[in-house]
Amino acid sequence: MQASGIPRGLEDVVVTTSAITFIDGRQGRLIYRGYDIRELARFSTFEETAYLLWYGHLPKPGELNELSRKLAALRELPSGVRKVLEALNPGTPPMEALRTGVSALSSFEPEETKGPQTSLEGALRLTAVLPTLVSTFHRLRQGEPPVSPRPELNHASNLLYMMTGRPPSITDAHVLDVALILHADHELNASTFAARVTASTLSDLYSAVTSAVGTLKGPLHGGANERVMDMVEEIHRPEGAEAYVLKKLHEHEKVMGFGHRVYKVEDPRATILREFAKNLAKEKGDPLPFEILRKVEEVVRREKGLYPNVDLYSGPCYRLLGIPKDLFTPVFAASRVAGWTAHVLEEYADNRLIRPTARYTGPTELRYVPLAER
Ligand code: ACO
Repeated sequence: MQASGIPRGLEDVVVTTSAITFIDGRQGRLIYRGYDIRELARFSTFEETAYLLWYGHLPKPGELNELSRKLAALRELPSGVRKVLEALNPGTPPMEALRTGVSALSSFEPEETKGPQTSLEGALRLTAVLPTLVSTFHRLRQGEPPVSPRPELNHASNLLYMMTGRPPSITDAHVLDVALILHADHELNASTFAARVTASTLSDLYSAVTSAVGTLKGPLHGGANERVMDMVEEIHRPEGAEAYVLKKLHEHEKVMGFGHRVYKVEDPRATILREFAKNLAKEKGDPLPFEILRKVEEVVRREKGLYPNVDLYSGPCYRLLGIPKDLFTPVFAASRVAGWTAHVLEEYADNRLIRPTARYTGPTELRYVPLAER
């Protein structure tokens, strides 16, 4: 809170009602449409979770099959979008390429799938195609031909397959599927709020998701997971963690992957991903990043009382799945798109323009001075 009484960064300000996601920041619980994330991570799939977010209830078998069939049919990229991606500088950060790709895709989609009336079609299209956008740009920037999606693979498996050109193992596909469930929505986080603000002007779904991708990119939001792995590389070995953290805190810098606006205890997504990171590290025989992060966690907790957020352990999981560091945030987007679009649909269903106000602190009585007299 500022001295002015205005909550900085809208902390704790309730700006709308929503029936999609509930975060209990004191108990460390995350609920999608009534279901605890821990149960969904254990028993559900990304496709089923996306259905839950969009429709508000778990699908029956026929409904899930129908959704999976529709998503599989919507994964191909229009050649025009591929040309746009080909035209980008190969050094473009992948989140910028994704933002451009989502925006360009809009011009190849039927007008009636974009607007407030029928945007569930657009939600399916955007969710289905995001992994293809991410992996197509990744292959192109490496000078490799893009890999087409395979209809028999689900969202998570296709993402890994299109990035690497190899179908993933059952374990790898499962780890990514759970990570996608955990990232699919998170109430009114910055990117979802950006999407809702855009939708509240009755702008189209593609514009809302473009706003959201640009917002997720920032290091205080989705971009933190990439920086967690920068930190691991810089620390290099567990014995270096203590000095690294103390130096950061001494210089009043943030340690990436810690702290949260809403959670006052551990983020439940971090608890689940820590376990996956540990098991995956053992299975792949690459325990060092996990050991470094455990030590970082110990020191940050001791020194600042801060808990890890979702971004701390998604990084080592993704690395062990063979995902390049700068694709971590695009992978996050390939999941969160389900939440963004669910929120845009909810906004359209009961919309009022989101237009807050600012307390003006500048002068009001200045008189115009002609250019030559200044
Ligand atoms: N490292 C060190 N100190 C921290 C951290 C951190 N990661 N996070 C918060 N703090 C400290 C601040 O320095 C501040 O301390 P002070 O009161 O002594 O000055 C206090 O905790 C409050 O911090 P704010 O930045 O005001 O908290 P806010 O709610 O605005 O920020 C945020 C939340 C952005 C997530 C913050 O914790 C942060 O920057 N974390 C690092 C980036 C990160 O991991 N982002 C991912 C978030 S999850 C997601 O978006 C998917």
